[in-house]
Amino acid sequence: MSAPPSAGSARGGEFPAAALRAQFPALERAGAFVFFDNAAGAQVPQRVVDAVTAHLIEHNVQRGGRYARSAAVDAVIQGAREKVAAFINARRAEEVAFGMNATSFIRLVSLAIGQTLGERNEIIVTDLDHEANVATWLALAPLGAAFRWWRMRADGRLHCEDLASCLGPRTRLLACTCASNALGSVVDVQRAAGLVHTVGGEIFLDAVHYAPHGPLDVQSLDCDYLVCSAYKVFAPHMGFLWGRYPLLAALPTFREDFIPDRPPGKIEAGTFVYENVAGLAAAIDYLAELGRTLAARDGGNGAGGLRADCQVAMEGIRAYEQGLSRELLRVLREAGADIYGVTEESQLAQRVPTVCFNLPGIAPAAVAEAAARAAIGIRDGHMYSPRLMQRLGLSPESGAVRVSLVHYNTVAEIHRFRDVLMGLSP
Ligand SMILES: Cc1ncc(COP(=O)(O)O)c(C=O)c1O
Repeated sequence: MSAPPSAGSARGGEFPAAALRAQFPALERAGAFVFFDNAAGAQVPQRVVDAVTAHLIEHNVQRGGRYARSAAVDAVIQGAREKVAAFINARRAEEVAFGMNATSFIRLVSLAIGQTLGERNEIIVTDLDHEANVATWLALAPLGAAFRWWRMRADGRLHCEDLASCLGPRTRLLACTCASNALGSVVDVQRAAGLVHTVGGEIFLDAVHYAPHGPLDVQSLDCDYLVCSAYKVFAPHMGFLWGRYPLLAALPTFREDFIPDRPPGKIEAGTFVYENVAGLAAAIDYLAELGRTLAARDGGNGAGGLRADCQVAMEGIRAYEQGLSRELLRVLREAGADIYGVTEESQLAQRVPTVCFNLPGIAPAAVAEAAARAAIGIRDGHMYSPRLMQRLGLSPESGAVRVSLVHYNTVAEIHRFRDVLMGLSP
């Protein structure tokens, strides 16, 4: 992913964290509680709540009917498709499909690809990924898939130099994350896509963890498939899939015979949660508004449209979050933590503010419990990446402690967390 414009604050001025926090009712109502478990799901702004509520009250009916309420549902879905397309810079809205979550989409695509392996049967997986983007592909072994592992180095990062030896004439697909949900490491997926394409393979990106932290652009990344969980990007619980139109058109997906073999319908068998789709559209509006605010503050007119607004917002978030990463890492070092992954100041662009660590002699669960007593929500365990925990020499059962921040978190909250760490002793 590309490097942010600057570290610590958004281009040219302070990031409006306080004004943004005021838009999140959960933050307002939670009082002193600190949301530091955002990698497991983020809070939603008021406009998302309003959009979900309005949908349920005004047109909670099935789509595809001839009456106005039903037509309104079709319009909500189409509008949301166009907004997601702008958010990720898709070439056309039909490349975006809605559904339950990222895992079910990875399974759907992997099952389809598993039916078309032939001679090109090698799938590359990584030991940095969430297990949802590993086990789903490994499950294709009975269909003839063979596997290559792109392994993380000791610095907690995937290096493209190591990918080259995994590639060959049988490479069908690389399944890899844009950023680690455990270590926060960012992957150079643009370069990885270029390498995979040189041998005629495809790349499937898990953007779930990266999406709330920086701009996504499927055209400049030159990827083939990308999956995302809306509930990590300030929207309700649901997921979406993007794929290049010709690839989606060719995928042998399950659908009833009367459903046309065309995206996105061929990927959306059954009913999905329309009110959450309305909420996702509102979350993108929230980000676009942030983009306009940042552009205006920096002297722009914000007239670039939804895509440009989202890009500015996510660049601003990326820059602000680097300041959060810097302070969080400093506090963890002060507490004597063993931090896994990128820690150097000069490498902050290689991570998002998701940090896994352990305190010597203290069980991860004890750290999370102490934080909970201090009204700070964090997580301990394997983070759904048990292979990664093993690579780190940790037991997948107890794993590590993870603190995961997003743009509505603040340095003051990090200092509350420091007080908890400083109060712990082995
Ligand atoms: C990187 C990553 N990939 C995949 C998933 C699975 O997403 P979902 O819950 O939408 O299936 C998660 C969930 O935390 C994740 O962090």
